Amino acid sequence: MDQSEKPVFSGLRESVPSHVRHAGLIDWVNSVVALTRPARVEWCDGSQEEYDRLCAEMVAAGTLQQLNAAKRPDSYLALSDPSDVARIEDRTFICSDREEDAGPTNNWVAPATMRATLNKLFDGCMSGRTLYVIPFSMGPLGSHIAHIGVELSDSPYVVASMRIMTRMGRAVYDVLGTDGTFVPCVHSVGAPLAPGQADVPWPCNKDVKYIVHYPESREIWSFGSGYGGNALLGKKCLALRIASVMGRDQGWLAEHMLILGVTSPAGRKTYVAAAFPSACGKTNFSMMIPPAGFEGWKVTTIGDDIAWIKPHDDGKFYAINPEAGYFGVAPGTSYESNPNCMETIKRSTIFTNVARTDDGDVWWEGMTSEPPAHLIDWQGNSWTPGCGRKAAHPNARFTVAAMRCPSLDPEWDNPEGVPLSAMIFGARRADTVPLVVEAPTWEDGVYMAATMGSETTAAIVGEVGIVRRDPMAMLPFCGYHVGDYFRHWLAMGKVVSQPPRIFNVNWFRKDENGKFAWPGFGQNMRVLKWVVDRCEGHADGVETPLGISPRYADLNWQGLNFSELRFDGVMRIEGSTWNKELMSHDELFKKVGAKLPEALKAQRKSLGQRLAG
Ligand code: GTP
Ligand code: SPV
Ligand code: MN
Repeated sequence: MDQSEKPVFSGLRESVPSHVRHAGLIDWVNSVVALTRPARVEWCDGSQEEYDRLCAEMVAAGTLQQLNAAKRPDSYLALSDPSDVARIEDRTFICSDREEDAGPTNNWVAPATMRATLNKLFDGCMSGRTLYVIPFSMGPLGSHIAHIGVELSDSPYVVASMRIMTRMGRAVYDVLGTDGTFVPCVHSVGAPLAPGQADVPWPCNKDVKYIVHYPESREIWSFGSGYGGNALLGKKCLALRIASVMGRDQGWLAEHMLILGVTSPAGRKTYVAAAFPSACGKTNFSMMIPPAGFEGWKVTTIGDDIAWIKPHDDGKFYAINPEAGYFGVAPGTSYESNPNCMETIKRSTIFTNVARTDDGDVWWEGMTSEPPAHLIDWQGNSWTPGCGRKAAHPNARFTVAAMRCPSLDPEWDNPEGVPLSAMIFGARRADTVPLVVEAPTWEDGVYMAATMGSETTAAIVGEVGIVRRDPMAMLPFCGYHVGDYFRHWLAMGKVVSQPPRIFNVNWFRKDENGKFAWPGFGQNMRVLKWVVDRCEGHADGVETPLGISPRYADLNWQGLNFSELRFDGVMRIEGSTWNKELMSHDELFKKVGAKLPEALKAQRKSLGQRLAG
């Protein structure tokens, strides 16, 4: 080898496995190794042996605790640093060439400036650690709709999680060949180790965090956090922020949506996608078990967080779930609220920031009505009921393979996707927004989705319970100008002859006692059936100022004692709250600025008139 070609990590070129034949990929790994200077490089193959070995190493390092093999086989608990528990939106950047392409809802820094900042931060940032090369596919391997990414990370927790959440491993290199396209993703916990320095169980950088996307060059750089959407770069960073830009350019949609199938007693199957903001019920809705009164109905799960939606020759949109696992909210999940989910996480699961029982199992708020008498909480401290602290972090999560889900739809892996009949948009609103409304047209639906407001949740670092506009539940995930995004949505409705019907729902309205007024969870089937029946053309509704809504008699109430009075309570449209609501639509539209499509301005005007009239 010529001296000038010699890589900084001596032996990198020798370490490249023979099945990696992509010179561009090897050069890129080499350049990141030269920058970050890890002690070792490991080319991950995605095998069970590799997963087991990394988990054993993490147990030895204190990053993971092995759970009781009799109670929770093949499962682990990770407790994160208390400063690294959720997505960090104010540290997330869209560094497009032009500021106006990031738009008013994204943080923007000029790419050259950001590259200079990151080059300093990444300089030597992996010293003492292993750089893992993680090849993964979002979408079925080799399918025309899939996109390949390669994540370089110094976190073994990320490797194990990516193996569960994506199609990860050696076969990706066969698809990549010698010159295939991939999205380069670089991740560091930002905690270099000096020679002899002892590691901590959850390394991260308490002071400096950056989650950076370059939409034009389709690159992702993440520094300082080891948690979820900040670190598993295939998920929010690639499959939503970068993919939304691809969708804008190529005529499709990357959305923060679950996908489910509904089978009627007659055997008719309908597919529905639903967008709810973070921690607002997507996992629950996608795994729903129809309650008493819905005998013969079945709900099956295609995805719980992300949908890639493409127009098809038959005039419909087809959706695929690009992921292969669930990174779901633990608190609130129980055999009562989501039995399919509880079955899914019975084994082979990584839990993060839940509490540990004295017999080596897991617990979180809402899992059982009675808490155990003693726990170790998510910060590793002794916990007893009534101590005043939460046992699990409110954004505690489980990571588990889709294959473990009992309600998994047989089509979940179909590279053609499933045809969508309906799209549901929902948010967390204690007031104002009724249980369900159907948009009369695609444009009405786009307006409804674009102006959706929701209370913030623990999925994001920051204050919880603040109502903010969250267009299409994509506020933190749209990788380009939100005005262009609205325009793209409006245009997409004209690309297919049978666009899905659009609905708006709210499971979270509260009564005068501050209690949820709608029973929610499996009972949401009552609304879902109306949605499906509307798509089939055999369910009635009435026109309201917001759209078409069911009357009490239009829903099936068999098996639930829910009076017409209470139904009126969850359906009520109040003039005073809607005046306030319209003002916040106006604020959003002002923020969107000159790129706001005329069609949405017209929608706003007509809604104002309908509510006034
Ligand atoms: P991300 O993974 O963050 O995108 O969230 P998600 O939309 O998948 O949220 P998830 O389904 O995990 O729900 C989050 C919380 O909402 C959990 O605590 C659930 O128990 C609660 N939840 C889900 N469905 C309902 C419902 O119908 N009614 C009420 N009141 N709470 C619900
Ligand atoms: C969300 O916040 O919407 C999530 C969790 O799905 S995370 O992957 O951490 O972004
Ligand atoms: Mn999500």
